[in-house]
Amino acid sequence: MAKTYSPASGTSVTVARLKIVGGSSGRLLATLIARELDLKVSEVEIRRFPDGEKYIRIKEDLDDQVVAIIQSIHHSPDELLFEYLLLCDTARDLGANKVIAVLPYFAYARQNSRFNPGEAVSLRTVARLIEDVGTAELYSVDMHQHRVGRVSDVFGIPVHNLTAAPLLADYVKANVKLEKPIVVGPDEESKQWASTAAKVIGADHDVLEKKRFGADKVEIKTRSLAVRGRDVLIIDDIISTGGTIVEATKILKELGARRMVVACTHPILADDALVRIYESGAELVLGTNTVPSPVSYVSAAPLIADALRRI
Ligand code: R5P
Repeated sequence: MAKTYSPASGTSVTVARLKIVGGSSGRLLATLIARELDLKVSEVEIRRFPDGEKYIRIKEDLDDQVVAIIQSIHHSPDELLFEYLLLCDTARDLGANKVIAVLPYFAYARQNSRFNPGEAVSLRTVARLIEDVGTAELYSVDMHQHRVGRVSDVFGIPVHNLTAAPLLADYVKANVKLEKPIVVGPDEESKQWASTAAKVIGADHDVLEKKRFGADKVEIKTRSLAVRGRDVLIIDDIISTGGTIVEATKILKELGARRMVVACTHPILADDALVRIYESGAELVLGTNTVPSPVSYVSAAPLIADALRRI
C-alpha cells in the first residue's frame, strides 16, 4: 500500500548501514541526500562501451549493506531505467542486503492503462522489471498515480509516494508576497497538492476542469472560481509540454486573476514549455530538482533524506 509522507524532523532511525548510489540522472540529488544524512555518495563509474552499451562499476563494498539507488527517470527514460536495472542487479550481486529504488520522477506512470487498442500498459511492464531485478522498496515523489488507483495493484513491493507540495509552498511563502492568495490546481487530480499548499501559505484552494485529447492537447473548462483581483498560485505535479498550465493561466486571467505564480514538482519543460508559460502571463515558474531545469529552485533532497531515515 502506498504511503504519502510530508517532510518531518526529529526522526532518529539509524542510517549507518545505508549506502547512497547515484545513477547518471541522480548524481546531484544523491550528493544532496547524502549530505543531509551525513554520508558519502558511493563511487560509481558509468560510461559506454564503443558499441553504445552501458558499462557500470560500483566501487564500494556493499556487502550486507542497505543500498539506496537514486535515479530520476526523466528525459531519456529508457536509458535511465535500464541503468537502474543494471545498478540494482549489480548491488544485489555485490552482496547488498536490501536495495531501495529512489526514482523521484517516475516515467511511464502515466501509461498505466490501455487507452487505445493495442497499446502497451507500460507502467505494469516497468513495475515488473524493477521488482524482478531485486528491488525491495520504491520511493518516488508525486508519482503520477491518479488513474492507477492503488499502486499496490501494480507493484508487488512497498511503494512510498512522497509529496513535494509543502516544500514548493514553503518556497513561495518565503519568496513571493502574494496578496489575497488562492491556490488553484489545473484539474481535479491536482486537488491534493492545491489543498496541501493552501494550508502552508494560509489560503483557500480550488481546481479547474481539464480534458486531455492527446499527449500535447488539453482543454480546460471555465469554472467560476473566486480569483478576481487575487494572486494565484497554480500547482501541479508535472509540467511537460506546458499545455495544461498555459490553458490554466488563460482561463484564470479571463476570470480576473491578478498575479500568477506556477509551481510543480517535476519541471520536465519539454521544448519551449517554459517560454510559453511565461508568455502566457505567469510571473514566476518554479519546480524541484527531481528534474534539473532552469527553474528547479527547490531541493527535494530533505524530503527524500527524511524518508530514508525511517527505513
Ligand atoms: C496530468 O494529469 C498531470 O497532472 C499534468 O497536468 C500533466 O502531466 C502536464 O502535462 P503538460 O504540461 O504536457 O500539459
